[in-house]
Amino acid sequence: MRPNDLGPFWLPYTPNRSFKANPRMLVRAEGMYFYDETGRALLDTCAGLWCVNAGHGRKPIVEAIRAAAGELDFAPTFQFGHPAAFALAQRIAALAPEGMDHVFFVNSGSEAADSALKIARAYFQKIGQGGRFRLIGREKGYHGTTFAGISVGGLGNNRRPYGPLLPGTDDHLPLPYDRARMAFTKGEPEGGAEYADALEQLVALHGAETIAAVIVEPMAGSAGVFATPKDYLKRLRALCDKHGILLIFDEVITGFGRLGASFAAERYGVTPDMINFAKGVTNAAVPLGGTIVSNKVHDAFMSGPDHGIELFHGHTYSGHPLACAAGLATLDLYRDEGLFARAKALEPVFAEAVHSLKGAARVTDIRSVGLAAGIDIEPDPAAPGRRGYDAMRQAYAEENLVIRISGDTIALSPPLIATESDIARMVEGIRAIVGWLD
Ligand SMILES: Cc1ncc(COP(=O)(O)O)c(C=O)c1O
Repeated sequence: MRPNDLGPFWLPYTPNRSFKANPRMLVRAEGMYFYDETGRALLDTCAGLWCVNAGHGRKPIVEAIRAAAGELDFAPTFQFGHPAAFALAQRIAALAPEGMDHVFFVNSGSEAADSALKIARAYFQKIGQGGRFRLIGREKGYHGTTFAGISVGGLGNNRRPYGPLLPGTDDHLPLPYDRARMAFTKGEPEGGAEYADALEQLVALHGAETIAAVIVEPMAGSAGVFATPKDYLKRLRALCDKHGILLIFDEVITGFGRLGASFAAERYGVTPDMINFAKGVTNAAVPLGGTIVSNKVHDAFMSGPDHGIELFHGHTYSGHPLACAAGLATLDLYRDEGLFARAKALEPVFAEAVHSLKGAARVTDIRSVGLAAGIDIEPDPAAPGRRGYDAMRQAYAEENLVIRISGDTIALSPPLIATESDIARMVEGIRAIVGWLD
């Protein structure tokens, strides 16, 4: 492609001018690898964008999409249905904790956040507690890019350019992380209930009768991989119960095996009221997201006249036939290859390898949980984010690695099919890169 051809596509979350001056063009993918225009193989250390959990180009998924496209290209799910959407909802609900038997489909993790937050507010109106409107997120939280998502989200760069955000979302709980105590932890840090206790202060400030929901990632991914400490989610659940507040887990990253279980809710033995998912549900082959809703919340809507719509919400492509076909084939693959258990078995190997970077040049912290890790690089005080960006470019150019960065943090989240030697290669590549950074 000639440089002029690159102009029209405005890339998301990318420094466009720098990219277009020196593009990184991926043209094919298979298994653990992307391939560039010259046929060079690039090891995928981040499952695309935390989403290609079964590895790239998996034949059963490709075939299922092909077959679906030939059979039913589209069917509306407003007032009509098609079998794959019902089948997939059933399969997803079967993976979720008991009592969470309903699935609302959307197209992305962002829309899932929007949906869960809307369902939370609408639920309280339904049950006669319409005064509950506050939606509480967490510092450094990421829930996608809609106005609702950035409002409950806690990453400054995503919020600051966009003016007044959604009313009722000003409060954020602290990120449950204390570097002095938790740096270089493998897995979940000890304790941490006190970070959840911050909810009591918001209840004291505003009154529980104004709070609808708390939304958290069971592992903060986009902020740079922060596992929640061992006592945190249980305490948060207990406090939400005490005050009648709904608890939403955003499992867009942690769902479908990243933490060695179907959902983080299973790993931590904590059942929220809603679980958001996207990404891994279709192995990223077709966009799909959704919210798994508890029976308590769902059933509250199921009243009123027979002809009356219970929830005025949805998207043209909610439960698109191709996405549902991809989802069904993906869940079969996860099951047949035991990929969630594989991730669990690999976790100690992965942690050991990643933490061997302790002491490497400019590495100031390493956090790991499941098959995810955050490696902090000391920022250039004059240009925060520059070293992270350089690391990503060096990884691509010199080490044949596709890595994900979040500011000056390298986030690793390999496909769950990664071998021990793939993991060793990623880690050695990063060791070399951080050694080069100025
Ligand atoms: C926890 C979480 N929620 C929501 C999203 C947004 O998903 P999408 O990019 O599909 O809108 C992401 C994306 O990384 C995410 O990590």
